Amino acid sequence: MESIKLKELINKMTVEEKIGQMIQLSADFYNTTENEITGPINDMHLTTEKMPTIGSVLGISGAEQVKAIQQSHLESNRLGIPLLFMADIVHGYRTIFPIPLGLASSWDPKLVEQTASIAARESSVSGLHVTFSPMVDLVRDARWGRVMESTGEDAYLNQQMARAFVRGYQGLNLKEDVSKLAACVKHFAAYGAPVAGREYNTVNMSERQLRENYLPAYKAAIDEGSRLVMTAFNTVDGIPATGNSWLMNELLRKEMGFDGVLISDWGAIGELIAHGVAENLKDAGTLAFEAGVDIEMMSAAYSSELKGLIESGTVDEQKLDEAVLRILELKNDLGLFENPYRGADAQKEEQEVFSQENREAARMSAEQSIVLLKNEQILPLKKDMKVALIGPNSKTNDLLGSWSWKGDTSETRSLYEGMIEHVSSEQLVLIEETDILNHAADAKLADVDVIVLALGETSEMSGEAASRTSITLPGNQNELVKAIRKLSKPVVATLFNGRPLDLSDIVDDVDGLVEAWFPGTEGGAALANVLFGEVNPSGKLTMSFPRNIGQVPIYYNQDKTGRPMNEENKAEKYLSKYLDVENSPLFPFGFGLSYTTFSYSALNLSHTTFTKEDSVTVSVTVKNEGTVAGSEIVQLYVQDEVGKVVRPVKELKGFKKIALEPQEEKDVNFTLTAKELAYVHPDLTFATDSGTFKVMVGTDSENVQSETIRLMTK
Ligand code: GLC
Repeated sequence: MESIKLKELINKMTVEEKIGQMIQLSADFYNTTENEITGPINDMHLTTEKMPTIGSVLGISGAEQVKAIQQSHLESNRLGIPLLFMADIVHGYRTIFPIPLGLASSWDPKLVEQTASIAARESSVSGLHVTFSPMVDLVRDARWGRVMESTGEDAYLNQQMARAFVRGYQGLNLKEDVSKLAACVKHFAAYGAPVAGREYNTVNMSERQLRENYLPAYKAAIDEGSRLVMTAFNTVDGIPATGNSWLMNELLRKEMGFDGVLISDWGAIGELIAHGVAENLKDAGTLAFEAGVDIEMMSAAYSSELKGLIESGTVDEQKLDEAVLRILELKNDLGLFENPYRGADAQKEEQEVFSQENREAARMSAEQSIVLLKNEQILPLKKDMKVALIGPNSKTNDLLGSWSWKGDTSETRSLYEGMIEHVSSEQLVLIEETDILNHAADAKLADVDVIVLALGETSEMSGEAASRTSITLPGNQNELVKAIRKLSKPVVATLFNGRPLDLSDIVDDVDGLVEAWFPGTEGGAALANVLFGEVNPSGKLTMSFPRNIGQVPIYYNQDKTGRPMNEENKAEKYLSKYLDVENSPLFPFGFGLSYTTFSYSALNLSHTTFTKEDSVTVSVTVKNEGTVAGSEIVQLYVQDEVGKVVRPVKELKGFKKIALEPQEEKDVNFTLTAKELAYVHPDLTFATDSGTFKVMVGTDSENVQSETIRLMTK
């Protein structure tokens, strides 16, 4: 439908019908068979007469079910305006990929894009139109459960991943390509920085910090074309995001140029009352409406109060029409007026969803997400070894992680199922933890060559509403490691978890340590392939692993201080340090080992001085010194030595993942211009100062070589 016709359509709509487009209901409003007014409909201040005016629904999929609901809706909607079907497809639909914190550890935006594209294919044949993804909240605090859903602590990397997710979901033409979904970047803004890592807690930061670190990934997703933005539950400078007119109108829409649909998070408009910035739903609805929230997810402000607010002139019907136009434009851009069933197709659903090809991609993405944290010549395991597999995650299918809605753990292969593909059942001995703790396993272990420990969290220990004040291994897992250590056998610990963990108590008691995150549908097979060397691990951390909770929040790009500690002065007292623990994390941002070793040549700079019109090429030659092929993620960092504000000790400004055969070497080149060196000044302008910059290249954020370049004023 041409856009002009949308405005004609709006002119035919009653105020109730316009408001209906701004209401989103959950699946249970549609899965119910009874037509009489049920509790939920009442709670939402709705009536059965109003139901046909509703604009969108979340949490329903399945080609036949969606088509039936859409058909029924169109038969009752006076003007034939179709429903939008939305859901949380965050790291896969039914074929589940590693959690985003895992996918990001691949440092491979193309891979991330591919997983999003597959998720979109499976979702669209199942009737979905919109995904509430990517979540691009920058995170620095492992106490917060939703770090699993983010791509980590760095603004530059998060921007690349945000773009990759949006490209994968949306493709290039949503109307023509019905295998794609509209993306909804979330949660605007700075939801990843709750005080004390406590879920839904206050966010306190300067506008400069917000702009420097937290906004770039949202901006990247919007610039990549994300059609929706979701509001955050938290406050931004004392005002809840969902009712924050400066954040949404001035910053998001005017300055960042977002002209798509702004949807509230679940119940977030109603929660303005609990926040204490609204006395009642009328106030809450006014705040959200004035902030430009187009769709209210699962609270009742718009359904109960917006008509009155319009009729009383409290809010402007012109703004109502603008909101409705954005919603209808989204439906139109999805082609729903021409084809309200879009990609829903039961036959294609049968072929596409959970296909072998998609599961292969899930396994490969899991293999690329795995991070080797320690290897004292024990990995990879040899095929003739006798292996004891011990620990709570040995046979678990709980490998999908949070936000894996249609994923089915019964279809998920465990680590044991993965490992038995590599060795015979005689070679793979499952031993109960209790046997170890009760010293009753000695006989079973006598001829075992290596012990593999399957440790970590359960999936509900991370995700939404899953903050932890302790981030050590849960239960008696540390005790289990200590008991195993006494058996004088080589030990490899593997981890399924959704956040950086405090591994200080066990890191010295194991010979190998492998971080697999929640690796998804094929995670067990992927981890086994890495353990037995079929895949050489190449993943690198995108979030620092602290030495203990006392260091949190900890992140590599911390600002400089007036009393920095370094190797030379660390014995001195009056420095920025702790009495009991080093400042450095246990495992730093960008860290990950390989089964081979890579050497780096000295850095080569095309220029040591340059102007704002020039660029500097930073080159390094990387060689695979080992006997197995491997991939290395070469990282480029910069430190601005003197700024108008205190600048970070280093910032990621580029990365390249290169594959090298044994003894092969490759030149890796990065191009730096003044643009990459810009930062948010005290007056909030984004600009680059002249001066000297340390340029660093290395295998992680700590192991780098550095040179200095000078940006001249002209
Ligand atoms: C949740 C989450 C949000 C999700 C929404 C719909 O509370 O905060 O990320 O998309 O509700 O499920």
